[in-house]
Amino acid sequence: MSTFLIRCLVPLPFYLLLLYILMNQSKALSPDGEALLSFRNSIVSSDGVLRQWRPEDPDPCGWKGVTCDLETKRVIYLSLPHHKLSGSISPDIGKLELLKLLALHNNNFYGTIPSELGNCTELQALDISSNSLSGYIPPSLGKLDKLSTFNVSTNFLVGPIPSDGVLTNFSGNSFVGNRGLCGKQINITCKDDSGGAGTKSQPPILDQNQFGKKKYSGRLLISASATVGALLLVALMCFWGCFLYKKFGKNDGRSLAMDVSGGASIVMFHGDLPYSSKDIIKKLETLNEEHIIGSGGFGTVYKLAMDDGNVFALKRIVKMNECFDRFFERELEILGSIKHRYLVNLRGYCNSPTSKLLIYDFLPGGSLDEALHERSEQLDWDARLNIIMGAAKGLAYLHHDCSPRIIHRDIKSSNILLDGNLEARVSDFGLAKLLEDEESHITTIVAGTFGYLAPEYMQSGRATEKTDIYSFGVLMLEVLAGKRPTDASFIEKGLNIVGWLNFLVTENRQREIVDPQCEGVQSESLDALLSVATQCVSPGPEDRPTMHRVVQILESEVMTPCPSDFYDSNSD
Ligand SMILES: Nc1ncnc2c1ncn2[C@@H]1O[C@H](COP(=O)(O)OP(=O)(O)O)[C@@H](O)[C@H]1O
Ligand SMILES: *[C@@H]1O[C@H](CO)[C@@H](O)[C@H](O)[C@H]1NC(C)=O
Ligand SMILES: *[C@@H]1O[C@H](CO)[C@@H](O)[C@H](O)[C@H]1NC(C)=O
Ligand SMILES: *[C@@H]1O[C@H](CO)[C@@H](O)[C@H](O)[C@H]1NC(C)=O
Ligand SMILES: *[C@@H]1O[C@H](CO)[C@@H](O)[C@H](O)[C@H]1NC(C)=O
Ligand SMILES: [Mg+2]
Repeated sequence: MSTFLIRCLVPLPFYLLLLYILMNQSKALSPDGEALLSFRNSIVSSDGVLRQWRPEDPDPCGWKGVTCDLETKRVIYLSLPHHKLSGSISPDIGKLELLKLLALHNNNFYGTIPSELGNCTELQALDISSNSLSGYIPPSLGKLDKLSTFNVSTNFLVGPIPSDGVLTNFSGNSFVGNRGLCGKQINITCKDDSGGAGTKSQPPILDQNQFGKKKYSGRLLISASATVGALLLVALMCFWGCFLYKKFGKNDGRSLAMDVSGGASIVMFHGDLPYSSKDIIKKLETLNEEHIIGSGGFGTVYKLAMDDGNVFALKRIVKMNECFDRFFERELEILGSIKHRYLVNLRGYCNSPTSKLLIYDFLPGGSLDEALHERSEQLDWDARLNIIMGAAKGLAYLHHDCSPRIIHRDIKSSNILLDGNLEARVSDFGLAKLLEDEESHITTIVAGTFGYLAPEYMQSGRATEKTDIYSFGVLMLEVLAGKRPTDASFIEKGLNIVGWLNFLVTENRQREIVDPQCEGVQSESLDALLSVATQCVSPGPEDRPTMHRVVQILESEVMTPCPSDFYDSNSD
């Protein structure tokens, strides 16, 4: 406890300085600058490019990505492609009246395109391709008469392309990779109104306003009441600091032996472990850096070999919060009670004063991530099918057969482990929730891993079965393509794996997504797999199948039907 208090308190003068600077801003900055700050406030994360946007500057003309007219100091270009910007596009962008160019492609903007963009009547170039934008293209964009470059490719846009303005000038190339769009430009007739109806069908009221409001409150806080605001902000940043330290500060110098020596107890589930607590603790004390087999978002994983030859994987999660213990233990009890052929078995845990040590079965085949991307010998087609099948059954069990049902929240290839026969097992189920709940009063940061996250999850932060199914679809694509969801070859094209699939689907070339190095590909099962994967990564959660349905389709259409394999006693 004391160590992290110190970590919080040391940078306090720095935060106060920052606050002082923030507070002296408002008198000076130009309206364009204010609009840009509002734009920045809607962005949740980035590669740091916006850090240098200083509110105390008189105008935004020196800010990265911003270009002004030399005489009027009004903003004419805003160019921030490829900066990992994640968040919504603030409607205040519409206040940049003289904007000629807006380039935000290859980021991770989500939510809707603000209709206020139609207020930027000088706009000549608009590129917001390769983001995660959803909803309709606002009809107001049709009024941007000066537009000569326009690109909304590879998003999750839906509905008719406005058909009564400048957007009729642009060809399919400006719209590809949005599976829900229709209109003449892409040769897809709109269902209710052929050719697309710009003015008639208004975009539904989506939650972009809510989003804006939430962000505004942050700024209001600063200007409203100096002292209260200051204290709150410092507290917030302090918590944030602790959070970051907790999440990423794995190398805190403590060894495992130190964890255990302070008095630890072992809890075993179902008499699963044929050892005494003392045996296990003695063994734990011998573990050191050499035994580390991996580390990830939640901690470090050690290989724990017992004297009788049994091997386990020990996941070490450094503890931050004492009062959290009882809740944590109840949850672990539930996770420990879940046994299934396609799930990694949690055998027990060790309760030490400084950490939680979870004891899992060791899977000798390592993770699917390593098998796909790091090993020289390639997985052949049958192995890949079998892995997809196993992972699907494991996840279906969590969704449909557990009570309470379990949302995994972090489906990705490094959480699919392989046994000696390359059979898949889903690992780390329930952990994301467990560790997120602990800090939910601090932040609602999205658990999960970039590239696998469903668009609505990034927007709302709320995990559902359907967000798991989206991640599972991404996983299927990863297995078929032999490439990580954010592989450089996709990024080069300004896409991720889902964007690439969507593009291929519009051209009816989806088979090309398959790894050319994979041997034994069967085209019928491939088509069925691609169809399932495409449904799973549908932008709308309601369009995704359930895991039950996925397993059904995989069994009947993908696996070669073979009665003896059909019903395995464990899988339901
Ligand atoms: N039960 C296990 N058996 C074998 N290897 C494991 C086991 N659990 C985890 N690992 C390995 O440790 C690595 C880190 O795991 P983890 O901390 O869950 O992070 P992540 O899942 O983000 O990779 C995994 O990628 C995997 O290679
Ligand atoms: C856009 O313009 C309309 C009127 O032309 C105005 O009412 C609205 O407030 C403007 N929006 C922004 C964000 O500037
Ligand atoms: C685009 O369309 C407008 C009419 O909406 C037309 O006046 C203009 O010339 C077109 N521009 C180009 C580059 O085709
Ligand atoms: C739009 O962007 C996509 C991907 O970044 C690209 O493939 C396409 O050619 C672009 N279209 C135009 C008209 O520039
Ligand atoms: C749409 O059809 C026209 C001809 O009918 C063709 O020239 C054009 O390339 C097609 N566009 C797309 C995006 O398929
Ligand atoms: Mg893991």
